[in-house]
Amino acid sequence: MKETLILAIESSCDETSAAVIQNGNTILSNIVASQIKSHMRFGGVVPEIASRHHVEQITQVIDEALAKAGKTLDDMDAIAVTYGPGLVGALLIGISAAKALALASGKPLIAVNHMAGHIYANQLVEPLQFPLMALVVSGGHTELVYMPEDGKFQIIGETRDDAAGEAYDKIGRILNLPYPGGKKMDELAHLGTDTYDFPRAMIHEDHFDFSFSGLKSAVINRVHNAKQKGEEIVPEDLAASFQASVVEVLVEKTRRALKAYPVKQFVLAGGVAANKGLRTAMTQMMEEHYPTVTFSIPPLSLCGDNAAMIGAAAFTKYMQKDFAKMDLNAVPGLELGEE
Ligand code: KG4
Ligand code: ZN
Repeated sequence: MKETLILAIESSCDETSAAVIQNGNTILSNIVASQIKSHMRFGGVVPEIASRHHVEQITQVIDEALAKAGKTLDDMDAIAVTYGPGLVGALLIGISAAKALALASGKPLIAVNHMAGHIYANQLVEPLQFPLMALVVSGGHTELVYMPEDGKFQIIGETRDDAAGEAYDKIGRILNLPYPGGKKMDELAHLGTDTYDFPRAMIHEDHFDFSFSGLKSAVINRVHNAKQKGEEIVPEDLAASFQASVVEVLVEKTRRALKAYPVKQFVLAGGVAANKGLRTAMTQMMEEHYPTVTFSIPPLSLCGDNAAMIGAAAFTKYMQKDFAKMDLNAVPGLELGEE
């Protein structure tokens, strides 16, 4: 069988990335230019700065991806790009670049949902088996996604307020950790113990939705109370207590979702899938309750935003000849299963 090569582009938030992916499962190159340093001093992603960086980086990142793969634009079978969800200005830079390359080379254009990309990051590790369940936890989303077959998505539960990563970053800021605080919070949590007894929102409720804003308020109130009383807050214990609440809710909701929707494979995905506490707790739960269900988590390098995952997700659309038109636009609030 002829090899299918896809050049994939990702620019939905604060990483400019391009990758060359073979047959949807093999990475020939995956170049990621992170802008985190530029946003750090503002304590979060500044959309205008993100767009400017994407413009400056994108051509070079694409050239590097092709060079590292040892391929040319002519060798590609299709050009794939993230068209949502994300920051509109940031998305448009990737989309414009992808359209220009598709037009110049006469190759088809493939529009990819960023969240589908996070799920398909696991296909770069092992083949996906359907029906499949995914828990996608990132800076902007927390959702349980049921996939009856390749390319089909049903959101069965999602956050009603903050995303898990967003909660991590907000609490990180309260503890004066640099943006994005998730990774540092995870490290701190491993040095402390769960002593603050924070709530586990909606854990026993009969649905698969999440809520993290109550937990965030509980942490903020606890810190304020301590300040008023002149008490010391132990950052390690605070981080450990916060993490214990987030992890317990994510794992318990997943356990129940897998009971309601029997699947062959469960995948954990998104930036927060890099969390050590979550990886360990989810692995234990899967071994104990679903030993016959294949469980995958991407390696750390593929948890955060990258174009390789976009190339993996694009392969399904390539096989179905599901190509985008040249009037493709960014859809900042794009939902899985909406297309
Ligand atoms: O998927 P991602 O790179 O970007 C979005 O699509 O949002 O996810 C970024 C999020 C940030 O909120 C970041 O703090 C969080 O993932 N994150 C973590 C960890 N590493 C990254 N959260 C908890 N623990 C980690 N180890
Ligand atoms: Zn992401």
